Amino acid sequence: MSLKINIFLICVLCVALYSATDLNFGTIGGQLVYQEQVKLGSLPFTVRVKNVFYSSNNTKVIKGISAVDLGNTKAKVKITAGGVNFTFVNVLLNSERGEALNYLVQIYA
Ligand SMILES: *[C@@H]1O[C@H](CO)[C@@H](O)[C@H](O)[C@H]1NC(C)=O
Ligand SMILES: *[C@@H]1O[C@H](CO)[C@@H](O)[C@H](O)[C@H]1NC(C)=O
Repeated sequence: MSLKINIFLICVLCVALYSATDLNFGTIGGQLVYQEQVKLGSLPFTVRVKNVFYSSNNTKVIKGISAVDLGNTKAKVKITAGGVNFTFVNVLLNSERGEALNYLVQIYA
């Protein structure tokens, strides 16, 4: 692939990442094993941060993780540990500066 096309693809990817508010990882469906609604109010000039941790107490691995933006708050969602094919996951939510967080995090196995 030429350099131009690569740069173009990277730009498209960046735009996709930054405009996405609902995020899915892996396969959504199957059994919902855990869900948590994260609701944090806005504080001036502050990034609200929340970790959602789930750990299975058996050997069933995670098949899908979904983060739904309930309040159009456009947080950054990142898996910082485990994830699809693991028995545990840590999902990190970072609000925009000065904005609230209102997300529904769901884990499917
Ligand atoms: C862990 O196991 C117990 C007993 O089997 C069950 O009641 C509970 O819901 C399980 N917790 C999770 C997070 O899977
Ligand atoms: C999870 O495991 C399946 C089956 O081994 C594999 O096809 C898939 O690519 C894996 N997914 C990730 C995100 O590692």
